[in-house]
Amino acid sequence: MSTTQTDDLETLEALEDRARRRPDEFGHNALIACDNLVRIYQSEGIEVQALQGLDLLIEAGEEVAIIGASGSGKSTLLSVLSGLDVPTAGRVRVGPWDLMAMTARQRVAYRRSMVGFVWQQTARNLVPYLDAAQNVELPLALAGVGRRQRAARAVELLDMLGVGYCAARRPSQMSGGEQQRVAIGVALAASPQVLFADEPTGQLDTATSVEVLQSLRAVNRELGVTVVVVTHDPSVSEHVQRTVSIRDGRTSSEVLRRTHTDEHGSESVVAEEYAVLDRAGRVQLPREYREVLELSDRVRLALESSHVAVWPDRPRAQPAVPAVPAVTEEQP
Ligand SMILES: Nc1ncnc2c1ncn2[C@@H]1O[C@H](COP(=O)(O)OP(=O)(O)OP(=O)(O)O)[C@@H](O)[C@H]1O
Ligand SMILES: [Mg+2]
Repeated sequence: MSTTQTDDLETLEALEDRARRRPDEFGHNALIACDNLVRIYQSEGIEVQALQGLDLLIEAGEEVAIIGASGSGKSTLLSVLSGLDVPTAGRVRVGPWDLMAMTARQRVAYRRSMVGFVWQQTARNLVPYLDAAQNVELPLALAGVGRRQRAARAVELLDMLGVGYCAARRPSQMSGGEQQRVAIGVALAASPQVLFADEPTGQLDTATSVEVLQSLRAVNRELGVTVVVVTHDPSVSEHVQRTVSIRDGRTSSEVLRRTHTDEHGSESVVAEEYAVLDRAGRVQLPREYREVLELSDRVRLALESSHVAVWPDRPRAQPAVPAVPAVTEEQP
């Protein structure tokens, strides 16, 4: 029966192969798909779990802010997505690029063509002895783009970002906000599909931050570039449609902002907060809810026609807050 055994083995391989190529894999429609991402750092014998099974899907054309306390894993996520760091486990895909399986050469190509980055430290983004236009042209020169085309691209990008007047200035002759807007131009020079920015306004005052965030929004709206901004500043969420919160290396909640038009035609922005339901069906209940109802360890769930109710694990639990008085008319 040795032939059958071989056949079985081949079949198993074929099945595994098919499973790997499943068209319905998690987030196959999304531009960016992080599936159960884990990143563990080892330093001096201590293990730090910077990402603890993070799931995140981002559609092409979205503008997303990622917020979270210091140490929650925001920069780790961004280094993974920008191809600088490789996660310990999980899956991560950006467009056609499988970031877990790239060779060193593919990694370079990915970083040059698919994504652009802006860092918090203004000095890290620009070459100090080149002027703004030369900085924007640099990645294009490395890609072999001709001089005239490079110059035209630099003018176009700097104008779009509102810093055309800085073209001939070196970084030391610009404000922090101007430098960050030029840095966005550098990141966009090679026409990437995604722009990542890690705390791009971290060293700026509020007014200047707003200008930089407006530039990021213009990049998203006018060029259709997908923008992912990492920040610990909750006010950033006022400028983007979607804000994802990361807590302890996982996505915990999201705020979506939509423009609502009422019957008189006037527009207002409605922000709604959502808990994130992960692939395994887990939801994180906000701490305030858990405290008020003393929810811990175990809860009872009840499926209602339009929602799911969550109850404390206590028979006839007394609510911790005074209940609304019963409506007498409804009593039989
Ligand atoms: N190279 C590293 N070696 C060891 N631990 C690291 C390393 N980089 C990050 N960490 C740890 O991983 C965790 C997540 O760090 P990360 O930089 O992603 O946080 P963050 O959300 O960006 O924080 P911040 O808002 O302060 O920038 C932290 O506990 C951090 O100390
Ligand atoms: Mg960080």
